[in-house]
Amino acid sequence: MKKSESHISSAKTNRKRNKNAPNARGSIKRFDPEVEQWLASDGNAFPSSQSSIIPMLQSAQATLGYLPHDAMQAIARHLCVPPAQVEGVASFYSQFRFNKPGINRVTVCTGTACYVRGSGKLIEDIQTDLNIRSGETTPDGVVSLESVSCFGACALAPVVVLNDKVLRQQTSASMKTVIEDITSAPSKDTTGGESNK
Ligand code: FES
Repeated sequence: MKKSESHISSAKTNRKRNKNAPNARGSIKRFDPEVEQWLASDGNAFPSSQSSIIPMLQSAQATLGYLPHDAMQAIARHLCVPPAQVEGVASFYSQFRFNKPGINRVTVCTGTACYVRGSGKLIEDIQTDLNIRSGETTPDGVVSLESVSCFGACALAPVVVLNDKVLRQQTSASMKTVIEDITSAPSKDTTGGESNK
């Protein structure tokens, strides 16, 4: 075996050996119970390859609703890569969330068609009403505010999605009413469909 082949072989062996290596205190770190449950049901089934980083991040977020720090640590351990690499990939893509979502998710489209019809002012006013910035959740956990660059429903601009419900041609006044409704009765609206409320 050539020296370079020997080196690669040895690195692979070390990666396998280190995957479940005990930490400095001699025990394998346990993650949050929800993360451990996701690992057992889905996470551990992914191949231990760097190409699994994004699929694993997507799977964890689909199950947990966001990406807690422990989930990224668990992915790094499963794939035998540095946690910073997983966190770097996750932070590069806007699809990933790092804060626990609220009971209700308000997502404002800030794409071109919506922006020229006032979504910039709309999201500013919602931020003021909720006293949070886009990407944050109210301290009581009732509302999360997010933005996207296009829902693909530009004819309905400006578009806001409340959980799974599309709200067309929104204004600051109509969204104020929506916010008042969900903050006074914070159970999640899962009716779906389209509304011009
Ligand atoms: S730009 Fe808002 S839905 Fe397309």
